[in-house]
Amino acid sequence: MVRLVAAALTAEEIRDVNTRYHDAAAAAYDSKWGIDFGEVGREQVIVKLTKALGRPPPRYARALEIGAGTGYFTLNMMRAGLIERATCSDISPGMLAALQTNARKLGLDVNSVRVDAESLPFGAGSFDLVLGHAVLHHIPDLPRAFAEFGRVLTPGGTVLFAGGPSRYGDWISRAPKRMASTLAPAWRLAMRVAPAPSHTRHSLDTALEGIVDVHAFSPGELQHAVQAAGFTDVRVTGEELLANWFGWTNRTLEASADPVGVPWAWRQYAYRGYLLLQQLDRRLFEGRLPAALFYTLMRCAPKPQPA
Ligand SMILES: C[S@@+](CC[C@H](N)C(=O)[O-])C[C@H]1O[C@@H](n2cnc3c(N)ncnc32)[C@H](O)[C@@H]1O
Repeated sequence: MVRLVAAALTAEEIRDVNTRYHDAAAAAYDSKWGIDFGEVGREQVIVKLTKALGRPPPRYARALEIGAGTGYFTLNMMRAGLIERATCSDISPGMLAALQTNARKLGLDVNSVRVDAESLPFGAGSFDLVLGHAVLHHIPDLPRAFAEFGRVLTPGGTVLFAGGPSRYGDWISRAPKRMASTLAPAWRLAMRVAPAPSHTRHSLDTALEGIVDVHAFSPGELQHAVQAAGFTDVRVTGEELLANWFGWTNRTLEASADPVGVPWAWRQYAYRGYLLLQQLDRRLFEGRLPAALFYTLMRCAPKPQPA
């Protein structure tokens, strides 16, 4: 079964920490993770959707995003004309407030709802697509959440999740994070940048990450959990290897510094390098190496109901 990392906490405590952690992270979330609602962001999201579906994404009439955060996936999909009516859900009111600010700036109309993924306040068959990015590893009871996704989905609808850390991928990415933490003082010196205003904030973030990230699963385990919740036609693939290592190294270095002082040239190097390595991963590794080494992409459909 799926491994529970923060086994010492109850599901309610995990939800509570997730809410507080993401509320606190909301204001700086887009700049920390380089979230973009322009051409680059749109392209990134479309590529992930295409890889997960195994074909270019169609247009969906009614979409529900789980753990939508500041709107990375849904808002970019709306801008690409892939969603007609969007509902964005999240457990963190702070994230949803940031999402509505982004939507207003982009001139998009989105319904946002504060809910836990395991208990959705929507009727059966309300959506054609249930999607999420970088959220499954935060949800305490995955089979229960997937049962809810199946309930609110219309027959013939699609469930699609991207950006889940796989167990080995997560384990492998600890090496660059550790190396970057050791090198951070020398890197700050070289960049002539001061330490993060509150070093404790950075340490707190690192400590809380171990609590809010409750799962690390292999593609097989994810597939099993999804099938146990009544889904069929499950496809689990992986993406990003070098880009993942490069990204974690740079993010760990940057998180140790005062964000205002990080030079523009460094940010360009980190951003462009990441995009370049993504392409390299696509050409050289994805589809060749086992999916267990990458971040996961998953799509599935509910089992057809007997007539
Ligand atoms: C890593 S962020 C990803 C946000 C966004 N999907 C993105 O890719 O930028 C994870 C999101 O999941 C939300 N979340 C965590 N636990 C949740 C739960 N049990 N139910 C719904 N949302 C949850 C968090 O509040 C946060 O916004």
